[in-house]
Amino acid sequence: MGDNNRVYLFDTTLRDGEQSPGVSLNVEEKLEIAQQLARLGVDVIEAGFPIASPGDFQAVKNIAKKVKGPIIAGLCRATRKDIDRGWEALQFAESPRIHTFLATSDIHLKHKLQISREAALEQAIDAVKYAKKFCPDVEFSAEDASRSDLDYLAKVVEEVIAAGANVVNLPDTVGYAVPEDYGNFIRSIMERVPNIHQAIISVHCHDDLGMAVANSLSGVVNGARQIECAVNGIGERAGNASLEEIIMALYTRKPFYNKNINITYQEIYRTSRLVSGLTGMMIQPNKAIVGSNAFAHEAGIHQDGMLKDRSTYEIMSPELVGVNRSNLVLGKHSGRHAFKDRLQELGYILSEEDLGKAFAGFKEIADKKKEINDEDLEALVKDRAKSVPERFSLQYMHISCGTSVIPTATVKLAIEDKFFEAAATGVGPVEAACRAVDRITDIYGKMIEYKLHAVSAGKDALGEVDSKIQIEEKVYNGRGLSTDIIEASVKSYINAINKYYYEKTLSSQEI
Ligand code: KIV
Ligand code: ZN
Repeated sequence: MGDNNRVYLFDTTLRDGEQSPGVSLNVEEKLEIAQQLARLGVDVIEAGFPIASPGDFQAVKNIAKKVKGPIIAGLCRATRKDIDRGWEALQFAESPRIHTFLATSDIHLKHKLQISREAALEQAIDAVKYAKKFCPDVEFSAEDASRSDLDYLAKVVEEVIAAGANVVNLPDTVGYAVPEDYGNFIRSIMERVPNIHQAIISVHCHDDLGMAVANSLSGVVNGARQIECAVNGIGERAGNASLEEIIMALYTRKPFYNKNINITYQEIYRTSRLVSGLTGMMIQPNKAIVGSNAFAHEAGIHQDGMLKDRSTYEIMSPELVGVNRSNLVLGKHSGRHAFKDRLQELGYILSEEDLGKAFAGFKEIADKKKEINDEDLEALVKDRAKSVPERFSLQYMHISCGTSVIPTATVKLAIEDKFFEAAATGVGPVEAACRAVDRITDIYGKMIEYKLHAVSAGKDALGEVDSKIQIEEKVYNGRGLSTDIIEASVKSYINAINKYYYEKTLSSQEI
């Protein structure tokens, strides 16, 4: 902590990000994201909210045990019960952090918690002291800080620091702040609290007015040294400040901010794709840094400038954030070696088992599609490195549909080493095929979201289907990939069912 210009990046993709409507990640998916965040080099990974559910608890525990490098934090309300449960999961981490929070605004105290300011202050002090008994690293968050009474908030901050909090977070929970006012707010707290230099001040901004990144950076200019943010800006409601935008603003405008971070920039794009793939939250094409248009130049004048000198229209290079410009393609004659080499160049180091699965998928697709480019390869890696065991797998399907026939599907699935076949009709071929799957699995999922997109250009493009399937009140993300879009749809549906089945098996075992 010797470098006064060092800013710490606290990633909350797995906690606040996972609170995005419709997002639900399983234990393995969370671990995969945490491992990638460690490769990216974030300082803190908020792995979850352990008391929220057995799945959250297990995910935090797994990440604490397996992910080395960053601090692993877990969120706990300011109660002893929450902190006990949080510590149960966090204790295994190389560097654990208990993150406890309580609202400080009158709006929250009066309407939500129905307690007085004095009672909230006592509760916050007690929670920090209690957490400190277990863990030397304790963060306190004053929820809705930006709408709190400044004198009262300053008192809370002073007291929680005296109680042992080494990080104090001042969130703009509802995304109400604007940059100048949030910066002034951080500066006022820095000036009013006598023991402020015994703690790091953190910002955590929501994007309800589209200003989360600007507010966070304004907080940093005014003294904050930790930024809480999420990959692709996902999070509660309109989301959190976007991690990749914060990183690249600090890098590109280093002469202005003069802050140091410790990030492996080339991992940014891959991290963004992984999170988008596993959460099913698409990235808008014009999203800064990681959107598909972020480095595209359309206008003739711009293209002309770029050809003469890239600095005319490019303030950062796509390669720096891991976006590859290569047009190299593979085809059906490419061998396992070339396939592995290309994946490595793209940054994917797969286990022999995952490589085998991905290569089998590659051969299957190369038989149907002449050229396989980087986007196809990325989609294949995501598809083959399945996050849960495949209890149900598609063996065969036959679809009959057209303008004047009732869509009918015959589907054959493997369940362990046995095969089962069923037929069904539907209003369209996707419904018919999914109903045939239901008959075999006896699991009846409701498709609540369905997104189909072509992985690359061309009539022979791979179709990727991301679906959200509701089974017994919970939503599971499914993904399927094929040159045949009905097959991709069915695979996506089966993928979600496999996740449901896996979670059911896990919860029947002891956690
Ligand atoms: O937005 C918020 O206030 C939070 C806290 C729990 C840190 O997410
Ligand atoms: Zn939040």
